[in-house]
Amino acid sequence: MAALLLSSALPISRFAFIFKPSSHRGWFPNSRPLFIQFRRSLCPPLNPLQSQFKPLCVASSALKPAAPIMAREDVVILGIETSCDDTAAAVVRGNGEILSQVVSSQADLLARYGGVAPKMAEEAHLLAIDKVVQQALDNANLTAHDLSAVAVTIGPGLSLCLRVGVCKARRIAGMHSLPIVGIHHMEAHALVARLTEKDLHFPFLALLISGGHNLLILARDLGHYVQLGTTIDDAIGEAYDKTARWLGLDMKKGGGPALEELARQGDADSIKFSIPMRQHKDCNFSYAGLKTQVRLAIESRKICIENTPISSANPDDRSSRADIAASFQRVAVLHLEDRCERAIEWALKIEPSIKCLVVSGGVASNQYVRKRLNHVVNNSGLRLVCPPPSLCTDNGVMVAWTGIEHFLVGRFDPPPLANEPEDYLVDLRPRWPLGEEYSQGRSEARSLKRARIHPSLTSIIQGSMQQ
Ligand code: KG4
Ligand code: ZN
Repeated sequence: MAALLLSSALPISRFAFIFKPSSHRGWFPNSRPLFIQFRRSLCPPLNPLQSQFKPLCVASSALKPAAPIMAREDVVILGIETSCDDTAAAVVRGNGEILSQVVSSQADLLARYGGVAPKMAEEAHLLAIDKVVQQALDNANLTAHDLSAVAVTIGPGLSLCLRVGVCKARRIAGMHSLPIVGIHHMEAHALVARLTEKDLHFPFLALLISGGHNLLILARDLGHYVQLGTTIDDAIGEAYDKTARWLGLDMKKGGGPALEELARQGDADSIKFSIPMRQHKDCNFSYAGLKTQVRLAIESRKICIENTPISSANPDDRSSRADIAASFQRVAVLHLEDRCERAIEWALKIEPSIKCLVVSGGVASNQYVRKRLNHVVNNSGLRLVCPPPSLCTDNGVMVAWTGIEHFLVGRFDPPPLANEPEDYLVDLRPRWPLGEEYSQGRSEARSLKRARIHPSLTSIIQGSMQQ
């Protein structure tokens, strides 16, 4: 409170939030922000590559810690991502300069075992994490001491995998007394578009398409999202991966990219798969039915995949598989087009000023997806914004960047203790919605993915701001 009183009647130079954590193990959502203002003479000198954290801790033991007061370009954040099958780290400066980016993929494991097995993925993360993080720091020519904070994905994702990244982040942050920013993986997919497209302002619409999620989100402001649609069963990336596997493709490249490549050689109109959920006038998605249609098409053509990978298929067999790939892709993407058209109508009603549709997540690196969605967006007078493919698939840059966005408005956790025990109970959110559901957007179709463990990111942030 002392800090609050100090600022009255003095010229305001900068501002910060102070958080009062309810425990020492949460992220900012558990914290209660207090708005304080600093007089310029009270600000510590801005030192770009030095943690500004400690000097600003307010005397009162209840009020810790204070936000570092730093110019955007002085902030340097390490981002760590381990929510699924990629171990990734990156160092990004507040002005969006990417100082380094390292990704260690588990594609080989995926190809061998046919999917992500949590225990195996955890082991692969454990083997890779130290090297990946060190490489990211080395490539940026920095040490952990030079960082302003560490950002790490805390959900949604596989608990065992999330834990590896979070523990690593806490170890570094504890050793160097750095604040931690807990990141929502899907928010990071959306916000990385603001790094690559500097004039992308809120509000905007975002289609997030990955291996585990299909989301249509109206991003009203930082931390304020309305969920217009989600998947009621599988995500599109999962459908690409399964189809690729059933067609005997080389999964080492990743199922999605392999299928996209084969689809270029096929006739997309040869098989009339039905478009999912046309009877449901909402913005939700379903890919389970399309997967079944593909499976039946493969069986009816008697393509014997178990014994014949695509590399050794005869020309007829190969062309038959290419037709299935192209027909699948056409319908999978038509489903996206349908939902985006409706979402644009809804979004313009809620926020008439939106100008852009952001498309991000692994599947957004697909050129056919981009081309088709570009048509939809142009017809509505909006602009399509897609991050480059390397920033669409899981990466550390998106985590670091989202960390920067939140850090600059003072949303972060205090540094962990330097000697935190190994078995410390960390805050993980394997099932964590990004935004509140748009009431008119509730699916009539039965959703299998209703179970929620955590309140949405948006409701947590809104709640903390009202306190
Ligand atoms: O965002 P992401 O890297 O990880 C998750 O958060 O799930 O997305 C991975 C998904 C995988 O299903 C992968 O096959 C798919 O994105 N993907 C693609 C392409 N590149 C990656 N799908 C279709 N075409 C692509 N070019
Ligand atoms: Zn992802």
